[in-house]
Amino acid sequence: MKMISRRDFLKASAVVGTTAALTACGGGDSSSAASTASSAASTATSAASAAAGSANIGVCIYQFADNFMTLYRADLEEYLTELGYGVTIMDGKNDQNTQTEQINTFLQQGVDVLIINPVQTTSAQTIVDTISPSGIPIVFINREPDKAVLDSYPDKCCYVGADARQSGTYQGELILATDTEGDINGDGVITYIMCKGDPENIDAQYRTEYSIKALEDAGKTVNCLYEYLDNWDQTLAQQDVANALAQFGDQIEVVFCNNDAMALGALQSIEQAGRTVGTDIYLVGVDALAEAVQAVVDGRMTGTVLNDDVGQATAATEATKMYVEGEAVEQYYWVDYVKVTSENAADYL
Ligand code: GAL
Repeated sequence: MKMISRRDFLKASAVVGTTAALTACGGGDSSSAASTASSAASTATSAASAAAGSANIGVCIYQFADNFMTLYRADLEEYLTELGYGVTIMDGKNDQNTQTEQINTFLQQGVDVLIINPVQTTSAQTIVDTISPSGIPIVFINREPDKAVLDSYPDKCCYVGADARQSGTYQGELILATDTEGDINGDGVITYIMCKGDPENIDAQYRTEYSIKALEDAGKTVNCLYEYLDNWDQTLAQQDVANALAQFGDQIEVVFCNNDAMALGALQSIEQAGRTVGTDIYLVGVDALAEAVQAVVDGRMTGTVLNDDVGQATAATEATKMYVEGEAVEQYYWVDYVKVTSENAADYL
C-alpha cells in the first residue's frame, strides 16, 4: 500500500487551504481565469482581471534552471491560478539585467502584485526603487533582502522565506547523529569539505556557517580542507568533489553541501571514487529533492533538510492575496525546515 508522503500531504493541505481561502473571500469566479492558464508551465496568463476578485500577478524567478526553484514556481503557479489570478512567470536566467527588463515590462503591463526571487540580493533596493513609484506591492521570495530594503517600501513589501541558519544547524545535527559523530577515523577532529551555493546568497552563507557552528557548539574540533564555490550546481560540485577526493583522499570524513543538487553531484564522485556513504564518508544536503530523499532512503546520503517549497509557495500566495484584497500584510513570513533522516525519509518521497 502506498502511503501518502509528507510532501504530497503538504501539497494537498495547501490546495485545500487556498480553496478555503478563496471561498472565504466571497468566491469570485475563479474558473474563467484559471482555465486560461497555459499548459506550458511558467507562462500561464489571463487576459484581464475581469472576474470579481481576480488579479494579474507577475512572478520573476532568478533562474528556471534551478531544481529547487522549479518545484517552488510550479507550486506558485498552481496556487495562484487556483485563486483565479492570471499568472505570468519569467526566467531571469541568472542575469540581473534580464530580470530588471522583465520587471519593467510587468510595470508597463500594470500587474497587481509582483512576486520576486531576485537574481542578486544586493539589487533588491534598486528593484524596490524601480517599482515603488507605481505603488505595486512586492512579495520577495527565497533570497532575503536586507530589512532596510523592506522598510523603504512600508506596507507594500514583504519577504517569504525560511531561516537558513536553521537548515545549517540541522545539517550539523545530522552529522552529530551518526555512529562516529562525524569523526570516522577517530582522530578527534571532524575533517570536511564544503560545497557552497552562490556566495552572495544568505542561504549559502548561513548554511556554511551554522552547519559547522552546530559541530563546534557540541564541543567538536573541526578542520575545513576546502570550501568550493559551486553555485548550487550539480555538475560543478561533481567536478570539485572528484578533485577533492583525488587530492585529500581518506582525510575527508564529511561532505557538506549547501543544497541537494550539489550533494547529488558529490554523491556521483564519492561513488566513482569507491567511497561508501555511511561507512567511510558522510554526505548531507538541503532541499529534500526527490532524488536526494531516495538516496537517504537507500543509505547513499546521510541526510538532507526539507526546504518546504509547498509551505513557502502557500505563504507567498497568501501574502499576494492579502495585497490584492487590500489587507494588512506582515513584513516577514517564515517557514520551518525539517530534518530528513533514514528514519523519516520515506515520508518525504
Ligand atoms: C536555496 C535552495 C537552493 C537554491 C537557492 C536559490 O534556498 O536551497 O537549492 O534553490 O535557494 O536561491
